[in-house]
Amino acid sequence: MANSRKAPNCVMVIFGASGDLAHRKLIPALYNLAVDGLLPTGFAVIGFGRKPMTDDVFRSEMKAGVAEFSRSKPINEDVWTAFSTQLHYQQGSYDDHASFDALNDRLKVIDAAHETAGNRLYYLSTPPEAYALITERIGTSSLVQNQPPAAWSRVVIEKPFGHDLQSARDLNEHVHKFFREEQIYRIDHYLGKETVQNILVFRFANGIFEPIWDRRYIDHIQITVAENIGIENRGNYYETSGVVRDIVQNHLLQVLALIAMEPPAEFNADDVRNEKLKVLKALHLDRNNANGLVRGQYGPGKVGGVVVNGYVQEAGVAPDSTTETYLAMKLNVDNWRWAGVPFYIRSGKRLSRRVTEIAIQFRMPPRMLFSEATRHEIEPNVLVMTIQPDEGISLKFGAKRPGSGEQVQPVVMNFNYGESFNIPAPDAYERLILDCVLGDSTLFTRADEVEAAWQLISPIVEGWKAGANSFIEQYRSGSAGPKGSDDMIQQDGRKWRAL
Ligand SMILES: NC(=O)c1ccc[n+]([C@@H]2O[C@H](COP(=O)([O-])OP(=O)(O)OC[C@H]3O[C@@H](n4cnc5c(N)ncnc54)[C@H](OP(=O)(O)O)[C@@H]3O)[C@@H](O)[C@H]2O)c1
Repeated sequence: MANSRKAPNCVMVIFGASGDLAHRKLIPALYNLAVDGLLPTGFAVIGFGRKPMTDDVFRSEMKAGVAEFSRSKPINEDVWTAFSTQLHYQQGSYDDHASFDALNDRLKVIDAAHETAGNRLYYLSTPPEAYALITERIGTSSLVQNQPPAAWSRVVIEKPFGHDLQSARDLNEHVHKFFREEQIYRIDHYLGKETVQNILVFRFANGIFEPIWDRRYIDHIQITVAENIGIENRGNYYETSGVVRDIVQNHLLQVLALIAMEPPAEFNADDVRNEKLKVLKALHLDRNNANGLVRGQYGPGKVGGVVVNGYVQEAGVAPDSTTETYLAMKLNVDNWRWAGVPFYIRSGKRLSRRVTEIAIQFRMPPRMLFSEATRHEIEPNVLVMTIQPDEGISLKFGAKRPGSGEQVQPVVMNFNYGESFNIPAPDAYERLILDCVLGDSTLFTRADEVEAAWQLISPIVEGWKAGANSFIEQYRSGSAGPKGSDDMIQQDGRKWRAL
């Protein structure tokens, strides 16, 4: 585990430090690592951006972010005072060589002042349009320390990584001109969630589940990422993204890969990612089902008793927008373990409830043993891994209802993270930033994984543009999604878990 190792001294340069992510996630995560004593002894942050700011203004803006968004509250003033002396700001322009030369000079001063040993972590927290330019400027301004083990340089790239297969390939090719693959950390914050990491522990650290984790025992798998919020003033972004790029291509397919992968030979970055890659390459839309994909867009409705607009009435959204806010697909993993086991995935906004869960539904047992009446009461076993909220695992099985008859009633056995461990889970960014500093890229997406995910998604999105499967059904805000999605799964004699 990352936390048992000592983090090496380094400087973290955050490009786009004046933005939302730095304010809400990155600096609060660093502060909490400081609270837990997990930051290296020699550590500093340089926020880089176009906005002019002094170090003092940067520190006070970041303190406001920590006060509002930190998981540990209230601010520990002693920790903050020490931590804030490690925060610096450098104003500059992303396309200007002189700004990067000035950053290099500043880095040398800060390296010396904080004894950071020349190690650098460059974090791209800007809109994706700027990724290519910034990596090029870093690479051509002597900012990359390339003499391991003397000093290291790594780059963290936020999502989205490309907007289709070609752009992801182009970006990979471009970044590889300046950084070796092992220096590149493509972040998908879902993989930093404790409950997502627990998928591998659950599967591979227990003797009883792996032997039944295949087509002999599993009927189908459902993965749901449901949100009850809408697009929240992010109309401009969402119009170019849709749920397919916002959730499905990255978070959802990554979770699916963890559920379906073979055990790695060792728990290291290459072995884990090799196994995930095999799943992504074997994944395809169900070929026998022309209706194996349903797109939806939220209309007006009520969520939590509040009347809300439809998607096309949101700010920044075209009145005739064809962007999907809901997507359901039936996918197959074409390998020996999973042949014939459908993976139904769905994700949407403005649904009745916020939940991310994986449900493994096992095959029905033979029921001839029981009377006609009892047979109808028997339900399949379902193992549910809840990623958020109420993180935990539950198993549904049939139990005999007390009494003289032979009535069977489904009951649920529950494990709840909060109740069992009684310690708050760290934010995903805490774990992931620490892993970058430690040089552990297991929870980051490799170039070939990103491209394999796009290989599935890109033709689908291109098909929509050409009119294939492009129908968008409107669903009521606050509902369980489009009716077509229910029809899709019912056609196979199955049903979605209730939202
Ligand atoms: N916010 C989140 O919760 C979240 C979650 C997951 C992933 N992400 C990803 O993280 C990245 C940063 O997100 P964010 O919400 O912080 O973005 P943001 O607030 O829109 O932008 C971050 C900063 O980037 C700089 N910037 C803006 N437009 C730019 C441009 N065209 N070229 C270069 N720099 C520009 C700005 O700083 P200056 O003007 O000072 O240079 C801005 O403050 C994005 O790629 C986003 O997709 C964000």
